[in-house]
Amino acid sequence: MVTYERKEIFYFFILFSLIIGVERCSSVSYNRLTVKTGGSVTIPCHYDEKYTQQKKYWYSENNKSSTYTNTTEENLSVIDHPDQSLFTVTIRNLQSTKHDGSYYCALKIEGKLTVIYDIYLDVLSAPDVSVVNSSVCGHEGDDISVQCFYTLGYKNKLKQWCRYKDQSCYTVGRTNTSQNSSVQISDDGRRSFTVLMTGLRLTDSGWYYCSVGEALNPIQLTVSKVLHMERFCLSQN
Ligand SMILES: *[C@@H]1O[C@H](CO)[C@@H](O)[C@H](O)[C@H]1NC(C)=O
Ligand SMILES: *[C@@H]1O[C@H](CO)[C@@H](O)[C@H](O)[C@H]1NC(C)=O
Ligand SMILES: *[C@@H]1O[C@H](CO)[C@@H](O)[C@H](O)[C@H]1NC(C)=O
Ligand SMILES: *[C@@H]1O[C@H](CO)[C@@H](O)[C@H](O)[C@H]1NC(C)=O
Ligand SMILES: *[C@@H]1O[C@H](CO)[C@@H](O)[C@H](O)[C@H]1NC(C)=O
Ligand SMILES: *[C@@H]1O[C@H](CO)[C@@H](O)[C@H](O)[C@H]1NC(C)=O
Repeated sequence: MVTYERKEIFYFFILFSLIIGVERCSSVSYNRLTVKTGGSVTIPCHYDEKYTQQKKYWYSENNKSSTYTNTTEENLSVIDHPDQSLFTVTIRNLQSTKHDGSYYCALKIEGKLTVIYDIYLDVLSAPDVSVVNSSVCGHEGDDISVQCFYTLGYKNKLKQWCRYKDQSCYTVGRTNTSQNSSVQISDDGRRSFTVLMTGLRLTDSGWYYCSVGEALNPIQLTVSKVLHMERFCLSQN
């Protein structure tokens, strides 16, 4: 009887370890952000709304001396947007020698630095995935389209348009009836795919990304009421 119980505990322990293991694996995702040499990039780091008060951190694998929010340097800004439950990191004057590597968005939770998002930044003269403008504006009710370019080597990779907030994605060549037909995605099969969003709603505002294979590029969509569009778009730059 005793051995039987021990066995059960043992199996329970194995199962528990497996669950923990799986969770750890899936949280260390491989997001490779490809950006153009000399350009700039803004990365959104979403956090749970219960952490609006906590300090937010950004640091690189190469240089663990963390930078926290409210940094506005010439080549780096880290800004918290508690109303949107995210903080943004902008890096300017990108150089592969200086900036290539892994980066982490983190929060101090109960005194412990906790990573909430990680990316690998890859600065290239011709990024694997790119967009002409990473800031897109539209009125409520409008249609907008975003063209995501990819390099030749990525022609046959999985292509997606995803929303950061809930990680919901639309995939090229896959119709998903449970998703909204107000988003259509089409691939020219050569160098770009186009995302068409029709009948924009204010709630469509937020951060999205184009991805091809494991390479991605972020885009901010701002949907505003008709009268205030001009002002709102300018304030984003
Ligand atoms: C590491 O980061 C800190 C804070 O951002 C910065 O002051 C320092 O110059 C960096 N060190 C190197 C070697 O890049
Ligand atoms: C960041 O700066 C803003 C404006 O100066 C201030 O209201 C806010 O409390 C600061 N946040 C942190 C975490 O220091
Ligand atoms: C910003 O980047 C440019 C180009 O690499 C460099 O010349 C400049 O010194 C940087 N500014 C700061 C404050 O580090
Ligand atoms: C990107 O779009 C924003 C808003 O529509 C606009 O203000 C900005 O000039 C555009 N930038 C480029 C490089 O086209
Ligand atoms: C369809 O979309 C739903 C909701 O976004 C998702 O959970 C599901 O996995 C998708 N199915 C396919 C076949 O992509
Ligand atoms: C799809 O979009 C329409 C119009 O924007 C909206 O009324 C509807 O609730 C959406 N459906 C889903 C499943 O999100």
